[in-house]
Amino acid sequence: MPRVKTGVLISGRGSNLQALIDACAAPDYPAEIVLVVSNAPDVQGLERAARAGIATAVIPHRDFDGRAAFEDALTQTLEAAGAGLVCLAGFMRVLTEGFVGHWRDRLINIHPSLLPAFPGLDTHNRALAAGVKLHGCSVHYVREGVDAGPIIGQAAVPVLDGDTAESLAARVLEAEHRLFPLCLRLVAEGRVQVAGEVTRIEGGAAPGPVLINPAP
Ligand code: GRF
Repeated sequence: MPRVKTGVLISGRGSNLQALIDACAAPDYPAEIVLVVSNAPDVQGLERAARAGIATAVIPHRDFDGRAAFEDALTQTLEAAGAGLVCLAGFMRVLTEGFVGHWRDRLINIHPSLLPAFPGLDTHNRALAAGVKLHGCSVHYVREGVDAGPIIGQAAVPVLDGDTAESLAARVLEAEHRLFPLCLRLVAEGRVQVAGEVTRIEGGAAPGPVLINPAP
């Protein structure tokens, strides 16, 4: 099977990008990363891509007169690289209807909360302030709006007594690094169907037992 050519958009550290790069190294993985685009220069994610021999581009949003022009440049660059699927991996720009519509059901994002709880920024502090006992991350198809769209997969982690935003973020990040490659695999294999803005996974493995916090 030909592998699905995938572009990854980043703005920074790129640890989720690294998880995708590592997954793509497996010979049976159904996607390959053809291009990494950052809106910020000199970020660690660009180094990770270069080290893996992946083409990179920097498209600074400030160079453009408005969001539409910036997003057109993103699409042109992604399509010139042959990308048919796009992953947002810590990409810190809100994308508007033009881009989101063009890439509908071919654009996925990872977000560090159990959506629809805590869309937007600062999710770990907000989870601590809300006192939730389970937190986590979500991978979803992107629709217009902040962290909106059909959920493909989620991973939950416990919130522990004494957690700080940093300790909780680290626990969630480990879960992100497992969830994102799994969800990209499912999408690339064509196993994620969207109907009525809800997804169904064809042939999904049964999840593990219930996670209860506090432990019974
Ligand atoms: C991750 O927490 C991701 O969920 C969020 O931004 C962060 C990016 O981290 N959208 P990294 O750049 O992948 O290390």
